[in-house]
Amino acid sequence: MTTVSFTIIILSISVTSLFSPANSLGSGSTIAVISDTKTVCGIVAGEQNQLIQCYSQGQTISVLPNVSFESISGGDSVFCGLRSGGYSLQCWNTSNSSSSFPQRRVYYNDTFLLSNVSVGDSQICALSRDTGFVKCWRVKDDYMGNSSIGILQFESISSGLGFTCGLLANTSRVRCWGSNSIASSIESQFEDFQMLSIVAGGSHVCGINTTGFVICKGSNSSGQLASPKVPPFEFGSFALGVNHSCAIRESNGSVVCWGGSGSEFSSNVTDGISFEVIVAGLDFTCGLITANLSVICWGPGWNNGEGSNLVPLPAILPGPCVQSSSCKCGIYTNSQVLCSSSSYFICKPCNYIEILSPPAPPPSPSASHDDSGDKLSKGLLAFGIVGSIGIVAGICTIVYCVWTGVCCGNKRIHNTVQPTISAINGNTTAPTSNSSPPSRSSTIRRQGSRIMRRQRSGTSSKHADRAEEFFFKELAAATNNFSLENKIGAGSFGIVYKGKLLDGREVAIKRGETQLKTRKFQEKESAFDSELAFLSRLHHKHLVRLVGFCQEMDERLLVYEYMKNGALYDHLHDKNNVEKCSSFINSWKMRIKISLDAARGIEYLHSYAVPPIIHRDIKSSNILLDANWTARVSDFGLSLMGPESDQDFRPTKAAGTVGYIDPEYYGLNVLTAKSDVYGLGVVMLELLTGKRAIFKNGDGGSPISVVDYAVPAIMEGELNRILDARVGLPEMGEADAVELMAYTALHCVNLEGRERPSMTDIVSSLERALSLCDNSHGSISSATISIVSE
Ligand SMILES: *[C@@H]1O[C@H](CO)[C@@H](O)[C@H](O)[C@H]1NC(C)=O
Ligand SMILES: *[C@@H]1O[C@H](CO)[C@@H](O)[C@H](O)[C@H]1NC(C)=O
Ligand SMILES: *[C@@H]1O[C@H](CO)[C@@H](O)[C@H](O)[C@H]1NC(C)=O
Ligand SMILES: *[C@@H]1O[C@H](CO)[C@@H](O)[C@H](O)[C@H]1NC(C)=O
Ligand SMILES: *[C@@H]1O[C@H](CO)[C@@H](O)[C@H](O)[C@H]1NC(C)=O
Ligand SMILES: *[C@@H]1O[C@H](CO)[C@@H](O)[C@H](O)[C@H]1NC(C)=O
Ligand SMILES: *[C@@H]1O[C@H](CO)[C@@H](O)[C@H](O)[C@H]1NC(C)=O
Ligand SMILES: *[C@@H]1O[C@H](CO)[C@@H](O)[C@H](O)[C@H]1NC(C)=O
Ligand SMILES: *[C@@H]1O[C@H](CO)[C@@H](O)[C@H](O)[C@H]1NC(C)=O
Ligand SMILES: *[C@@H]1O[C@H](CO)[C@@H](O)[C@H](O)[C@H]1NC(C)=O
Ligand SMILES: *[C@@H]1O[C@H](CO)[C@@H](O)[C@H](O)[C@H]1NC(C)=O
Ligand SMILES: *[C@@H]1O[C@H](CO)[C@@H](O)[C@H](O)[C@H]1NC(C)=O
Repeated sequence: MTTVSFTIIILSISVTSLFSPANSLGSGSTIAVISDTKTVCGIVAGEQNQLIQCYSQGQTISVLPNVSFESISGGDSVFCGLRSGGYSLQCWNTSNSSSSFPQRRVYYNDTFLLSNVSVGDSQICALSRDTGFVKCWRVKDDYMGNSSIGILQFESISSGLGFTCGLLANTSRVRCWGSNSIASSIESQFEDFQMLSIVAGGSHVCGINTTGFVICKGSNSSGQLASPKVPPFEFGSFALGVNHSCAIRESNGSVVCWGGSGSEFSSNVTDGISFEVIVAGLDFTCGLITANLSVICWGPGWNNGEGSNLVPLPAILPGPCVQSSSCKCGIYTNSQVLCSSSSYFICKPCNYIEILSPPAPPPSPSASHDDSGDKLSKGLLAFGIVGSIGIVAGICTIVYCVWTGVCCGNKRIHNTVQPTISAINGNTTAPTSNSSPPSRSSTIRRQGSRIMRRQRSGTSSKHADRAEEFFFKELAAATNNFSLENKIGAGSFGIVYKGKLLDGREVAIKRGETQLKTRKFQEKESAFDSELAFLSRLHHKHLVRLVGFCQEMDERLLVYEYMKNGALYDHLHDKNNVEKCSSFINSWKMRIKISLDAARGIEYLHSYAVPPIIHRDIKSSNILLDANWTARVSDFGLSLMGPESDQDFRPTKAAGTVGYIDPEYYGLNVLTAKSDVYGLGVVMLELLTGKRAIFKNGDGGSPISVVDYAVPAIMEGELNRILDARVGLPEMGEADAVELMAYTALHCVNLEGRERPSMTDIVSSLERALSLCDNSHGSISSATISIVSE
């Protein structure tokens, strides 16, 4: 199994811990549990301030002061909150629960900022944000041993009962300290492991080591160390009590608990539910539900009187609101709504695939790109469906699938295919806790095959209507044996080569990154074939056609029409290209026409393809230009090459590309044609401004989305301020055309899907804009003439 060692090599390079914040008895999060008083607190979403609310013994308590907090952590009777920005740490005593909790400020210093606040039973510890040095409060003098701990630099910390453990920043090793002997015992048990994350419970600690294995050490008095056997990287984050441990599965957000007698710490109320965050009290667990951001608790220690698991709190933030969007692994697309500010974002937790940032792909006529800004690695998920994950990530995902077998189940190809071909009417939604994903899939599948049958029995049986099957030899010959010279890009889950077939046709050949997908294909050949048949039947002058495929041994290749002039993205954003031939697109008329072409291609997918197709990943790198500079939409239905989504893929982990994803897709888990409208709106803004979907404003500025950049100016009627200087200001009549395009784009990026125009509306607006452009030359010249003649 060379594949296994390959994976291990790649993964062990990335020793840095980018995992989601540890959540437990004592780590900072957006929810906190205070065990003694059975109080549950959370940082509220959608409020002007990110304030804290708690539920305690039958009442909801607004915690004062009403200011913004970035994380909170609970102990036995107190909980603490770190003010947004990390300069102040405040704690509240919940013991005498009345209508408010008495508060004390523990720390205030606006030059030395804190992070990783972690409350154990009563000790409070935090890291210095810049240096990683640890500081603890409300502890005896000898809590930190002899100052040996104080000089260490930590990546993260977590506190249990009477002890705290930290992950060393430079070696990924665990160090523990505290007022009892557990600390040194746990530390020595972790000696052999390099960890990515750790979380402390009563007297045990669990985490994931750098090769993805669950490692639990410490007391096993109730089986709390007996983690289920799972594939590497199956668990994302943990919550540990005294006698139990719980973990969230990375794949679908479901929660698993172990320890205690029988299954007292598990509950059927968590069945089928995805969680963003979990935290534990001594003997119960609470989780933040992905679908609606509400909190439920379960376990023997949870009894809020009414026997209800639902905690009556408003929607809670899935993560802290941060000022810049320099998140390592993308942002929640509706973060600005949740943070109720246009300049605050919530970072998505990284999962291990994203630790491996994809390399920047070369210019590619036929491929997807990394569209994210400099630092912004994409918010694409390990289990993303359609999108542009780079080369390395692609490999790893697939290797992971093969290695673990997780993705290679029998049903997989169905799942891969289904979400792409989505019925437009009837709002195909991503699964929520209540929906039943398998039946959703099968509904669409049935619909698809019925229609396919209809098509098959139809008239057309032209050669061109079928996906041609190629021999591997043929394609190898066409690409000079996949030589580097022929490489034109790295797209979603494969490398793209330019090739010339024996009959002289120029094609772009996408070769799946993996040699390891054999199993899946053999099992589900027919699904693959029918999906291919369907896609290759889509003919439209604004779509890049799938010519054929090759499926031989463990090779899989897709063959497309070759687009001579490459991706719109390159012309707009690639420096080298801009100087060469991109002057071609440096006219407003051309840019309007490109928008119109793309809109027509998408309109075809939405309104004329049977069944209708939602593209899901409209972006400038998926809009290619053929030899005549006609724009064509590519990469639709390309789930075929990608790693499979888990059957119940997490709705929050929506497919797409940062900067282009419909905010509503995340927010309401609704995938409709209007999501593509949003994506096209972003592309139009790129065409207008010449800026990337997410870009850095000025040197060292923080990343900003083109939507946030352009929309205010358009609304204030100051369009000229943001227009791409390379094109110059529109001439007289042209100005109306550009303005019409800008207003169309503005409507497309409306936060609310139903307020956005349909593709058909967009096509007619842009047609009008283009005709204004045509007329403008006439009117300009007549104006000139009249001036001259006067
Ligand atoms: C908190 O303060 C903001 C204004 O700063 C106010 O709009 C909001 O209503 C307050 N919330 C509560 C719960 O007091
Ligand atoms: C919290 O308040 C209770 C009673 O009001 C007090 O007994 C207890 O010591 C306080 N806890 C802390 C950590 O200050
Ligand atoms: C707890 O609150 C009650 C009133 O709610 C008050 O009479 C009592 O003094 C408080 N106890 C402490 C220790 O603060
Ligand atoms: C902040 O902390 C530093 C180092 O501990 C100290 O020198 C400085 O005086 C502190 N500032 C304030 C405002 O307390
Ligand atoms: C603290 O925790 C966060 C994750 O919540 C992590 O990204 C950060 O690097 C940690 N360490 C420090 C020293 O801030
Ligand atoms: C300081 O801590 C180290 C390791 O924890 C221990 O070996 C050493 O004896 C301690 N020194 C003192 C003076 O306590
Ligand atoms: C890691 O950092 C500690 C101090 O924080 C230092 O003693 C140790 O030598 C470092 N190890 C490596 C491998 O850099
Ligand atoms: C991770 O844990 C597994 C299983 O215990 C072990 O084989 C592997 O060596 C560990 N890797 C590291 C880097 O700690
Ligand atoms: C922990 O205890 C359980 C039984 O309660 C046992 O099955 C398991 O092997 C133990 N695990 C370790 C690591 O000791
Ligand atoms: C959960 O289990 C309890 C008893 O164990 C049962 O009464 C209840 O109906 C179950 N709920 C669901 C949703 O299955
Ligand atoms: C998540 O996946 C696991 C197995 O991988 C499965 O047992 C569980 O039912 C799934 N949970 C949800 C919420 O779909
Ligand atoms: C943990 O389990 C032990 C018995 O195994 C029990 O005595 C103790 O009360 C439990 N602790 C909690 C917090 O439930």
